[in-house]
Amino acid sequence: MPTSAIPTVDLSPFFTAGDDESCRKKCKDLIAEACSDYGFFQIVNHGVPLDLINQAMELSKTFFNYNDEVKRECSSSPDSPLPAGYNKQPDHSPDKNEYLLMFPPESPFNVLPTNPPDFRHRSSKELLRSDGENTENGRSVSPTTTKILEEMFKYFVTTCEILEAIINDCLGLPPNFLKEYNNDRSWDFMVTMRYLPATESENNGITEHEDGNLITIVLQEDIEGLEVCKDGEWIPVIPSKGTLAVNLSDAIQVLSNKKFKSATHRVVRPKGRHRHSYVFFYNLQGDKWVEPLPNFSSAIGVKPKYRGFYYKDYQALRMRNKTHPPSTPEEIIRIAHYEI
Ligand code: OGA
Ligand code: NI
Repeated sequence: MPTSAIPTVDLSPFFTAGDDESCRKKCKDLIAEACSDYGFFQIVNHGVPLDLINQAMELSKTFFNYNDEVKRECSSSPDSPLPAGYNKQPDHSPDKNEYLLMFPPESPFNVLPTNPPDFRHRSSKELLRSDGENTENGRSVSPTTTKILEEMFKYFVTTCEILEAIINDCLGLPPNFLKEYNNDRSWDFMVTMRYLPATESENNGITEHEDGNLITIVLQEDIEGLEVCKDGEWIPVIPSKGTLAVNLSDAIQVLSNKKFKSATHRVVRPKGRHRHSYVFFYNLQGDKWVEPLPNFSSAIGVKPKYRGFYYKDYQALRMRNKTHPPSTPEEIIRIAHYEI
């Protein structure tokens, strides 16, 4: 069994009250090192229940197996900030995937599938956090598709809040600094993705890129494909049951003046079968001003490596990359656009 060079961190000390400070410190040291070396690490005991993960993966497979007509029933409204619901990459795109995107459960933009209505899974047990909600008149009912997706979303938020607090400490920022800065949860979004099997001639799932947001969590199916770039070399992120991959994104790289990396990553499609994933983007609100914090620049006599920008302006440029793809990869707007 191959092992990945990417470090795996056990987050359980952050879920148990009590005097676990030395365990927490060890985790933080591992994460700090991974964030400056790779901008990437994996986590176990992250709080997202395994049964929910299994259900969500099974749900993704069931949904994407429907024909296009059924999938297109959940199409976005035109005023949605990002195309919510079901979407497929256009045929001319080098990325060969389709996806279902959702905003926070209360968002008016969500168009979640109604199929399958009752979701049954081989090992379905008590799954939902709110006890009793999945029983009706004392009889047990299967969780709905919507409920599973909403639960996944809520758990991902909680895990990201913990990761944000850890990263805050790893960067030596005042307690709760990132939490107070990133205080609007309405812009987070989650996608579940399906990649086509590779063909003889091409295997690109997602072209190499960095994510624009703050922190991203990836739940991979038991199928390889995700790779992270370090010093020009592509390192596979080997999937393992119950393990989540975490990558830091552009906003953290800018705030930390490049102390922590935004990981360059891609998906290579395996042959012979579809690949499914869930990707959660812990995101900033558009009006946030993003620039290197004084702690990593003026206060320590280091020049800022980026000029500041409103997050929404960067998002608009990234969106343009997709709607009006430039003719060469060098013209794609990445965070280097703001480099000084
Ligand atoms: C992304 C991404 C990885 C995956 O959507 O930005 O990197 O495994 N996805 O689907
Ligand atoms: Ni990505």
